[in-house]
Amino acid sequence: MVQSMPDASPAKWHRAHSTWFFEQFLLIAHLPGYRVFDERFAYLFNSYYVAAGPRHARPFRGLLTRPTCKEIAAYRMHVDEAVERLLAGAASGELAQVLRVLEIGLHHEQQHQELLLTDILHAFAGNPIAPAYDARWQPPRAGAASNEFAELPGGIHTVGFVGEGYCFDNEQPAHRVFAQPARIARALVSNAQWLEFMADGGYVTPSLWLSDGWAVVEAGPWRAPGYWHSLDGSWRTMTLAGERPIDPRSPVVHVSYYEADAFARWAGKHLASEQEWEIAARADLLDDAFGVVWQWTRSAYLPYPGYRAAAGAIGEYNGKFMINQMVLRGSSHATPAGHARASYRNFFYPQARWQFSGVRLVEYDGAPSRPQ
Ligand SMILES: [Fe+2]
Repeated sequence: MVQSMPDASPAKWHRAHSTWFFEQFLLIAHLPGYRVFDERFAYLFNSYYVAAGPRHARPFRGLLTRPTCKEIAAYRMHVDEAVERLLAGAASGELAQVLRVLEIGLHHEQQHQELLLTDILHAFAGNPIAPAYDARWQPPRAGAASNEFAELPGGIHTVGFVGEGYCFDNEQPAHRVFAQPARIARALVSNAQWLEFMADGGYVTPSLWLSDGWAVVEAGPWRAPGYWHSLDGSWRTMTLAGERPIDPRSPVVHVSYYEADAFARWAGKHLASEQEWEIAARADLLDDAFGVVWQWTRSAYLPYPGYRAAAGAIGEYNGKFMINQMVLRGSSHATPAGHARASYRNFFYPQARWQFSGVRLVEYDGAPSRPQ
């Protein structure tokens, strides 16, 4: 039940909240006679769905010593049994809608499975004995370490989700965009490159930083990525396997948008737009697009042309967050298998760095290689 910061939720809360999601949006709406497990749980485990009723304040989730883990397990069993009943008895006319909400619930739970790991890591990183979540856990490793940039063809491209399978509403409507010709890095930015940035005064050179970013760097103060600390002159980091030395060949991880942006400026490059990233991923130009670290783009998280959130509480899932956040693309080594796709849009506030977030660069013709 530990909560190390307002953004990171307790493991028990994640389990209860993903269970509540099925109860609220699937069972109450579609299973006649469904008996709510505990009337009080909606208040405790509703995250941000205003239309679904009042809720416990996010920063205080760690105070929920009760219900116990055992009660949460019983809650889940109760909901699982009811979902099975619903699926067995749904009228054919209603089954399509039931399956649609069930599918959203499963993808929602996958998102929380990743958050369970990022939030446990944040809590363990705050513990002076640096506990290992799993001693066999391997930190993210890049499959390739090339310095190559791939030609990204300019012109009109279609981005957004098309075809069969699942997508979140924020991946649609698919639409056409115009892209400038560019070159995109095949590889992710590595720890070795990040150490060069640090050695060159990256964290103490205000001209490299956005104003808001510099304020965060100074307030920290930040001198390295999240979870890094220096011991006897060498850098170490906290991982799910406990504390480990920095591997120069591994991709940098736990950097904020502000850091990604400052690094790109220092390197004389840029961050890709989310459209460029998607075009490149679809053209198979990227090594480690998926399954290693999320990649910050320079795109603000905004609605696609013509986007409308669905009516009702479930419409609050994505649409109302389309302000003040930046898009990350790809997926991380903590993302459940099958959850990653070229059109997937992850989003976080620019100062956030407890996710498995890294950097990929892009360059353009005619751009100065270094700021003057
Ligand atoms: Fe959620």
